[in-house]
Amino acid sequence: MLKAIKNWIEVRIGLDELVRDQLTEYRIPRNINLFYSLGTVAIAAFSIQVLTGIVLLVYYVPHPDHAFKSVQGIMMDVPYGWLFRQVHAVGSNLLVIVVALHMLSVFFMKSYAKPREMTWLVGFAMLLLTLTFCLSGYLLPWSQLSYWATTIVTNMPTAFPYIGDYLTEFQRGSSQVSGATLGRFFALHVMLLPALLVMLLGIHLFLIRRIGISRPPFGPGGQERVEWTQFHHESYPDGMPFYPHYIAKEVFMIMVYLSAMFFIIAFLPTLFSPADANIPADPFKTPAHIKPEWYFLAPYQMLRVIPSKFLGITLQMIAITVLFFWPFLDRKEERNILKRPVLLGGFIGALLVWIGLTIWGNF
Ligand code: HEM
Repeated sequence: MLKAIKNWIEVRIGLDELVRDQLTEYRIPRNINLFYSLGTVAIAAFSIQVLTGIVLLVYYVPHPDHAFKSVQGIMMDVPYGWLFRQVHAVGSNLLVIVVALHMLSVFFMKSYAKPREMTWLVGFAMLLLTLTFCLSGYLLPWSQLSYWATTIVTNMPTAFPYIGDYLTEFQRGSSQVSGATLGRFFALHVMLLPALLVMLLGIHLFLIRRIGISRPPFGPGGQERVEWTQFHHESYPDGMPFYPHYIAKEVFMIMVYLSAMFFIIAFLPTLFSPADANIPADPFKTPAHIKPEWYFLAPYQMLRVIPSKFLGITLQMIAITVLFFWPFLDRKEERNILKRPVLLGGFIGALLVWIGLTIWGNF
């Protein structure tokens, strides 16, 4: 029976040829490392967010009078509701970590270099979308934490003269975070952002498959250079087959991701949800210690340290712009970052400053 079905499909779409071309005969560089799996882990993590998000949508009510209660209901009354919510909430934090690590590894391997500049630009846009996903999702439970963390983050643009106040009000839909903010964040979170992210992911994957994966600059063959004067698919006839060798590595990394997620859910369930997450939002009661989500702590702390808010936010915009256009700014031929002490120093320095500001902001 199974054979008959397979044969039926084979006659129509040439399944065997497809499997040969895309999996068993598709070869990738022999010196590829585990960091190259982070993109796939990000896809897996994002898919889990979509699936759990759809389940949560069945019970969630996007209204200031009901949102908090509906989330409490999911946690206490809906069978396994707590599990879906925890996977979604913990998963959102881990997704940010995975996407950031993927970006850092792409930077470290210099995979953004010609001809992969577009892949970098699209990826960067996806990073910004992922952060917007988290920001919009954070408000939905309508807790004290959601309300005040969103108040802080949406307040950041007020540092800009002239248009700052307008930008903040535009995000909120009113002068304060309110039901109008909840409505627009909900629409963003469940409609606009998923559609945009899926579209960009399609372009990202198309570019990766069309150009071919880059050869890491480390290990055997790492120093080989391809002169890129006209388009061609970068292939590796002597490389390792995508299936089963590489897929096995990717599945392994996805398992590591799932283990980390379920470890946090089982043993550190409140890691990403402090006490204020269990108190309904009250616009008239500012909690004693308010701070944004951990991934916004570094820019938040930077704005507090630099005396001029405008200067702080301008520096941040410059940093984001430089990083966005980095593939065009980096003119050096050398692909191995270990042979570029200035870049390596800058990379490690920037990471340390980010981590330092995050820790400082937290305390
Ligand atoms: C939701 C976010 C993202 C997803 C799901 C994703 C997915 C992927 C996948 C599956 C790959 C191929 C395998 C690999 O190298 O890991 C990849 C490669 C790549 N990604 Fe991403 N990515 C995301 C974000 C980013 C970001 C933030 C950047 C950089 C700003 C980026 C830049 C690149 C580049 C340049 C490659 C090509 C690597 C090569 O050919 O060696 N991606 N991405």
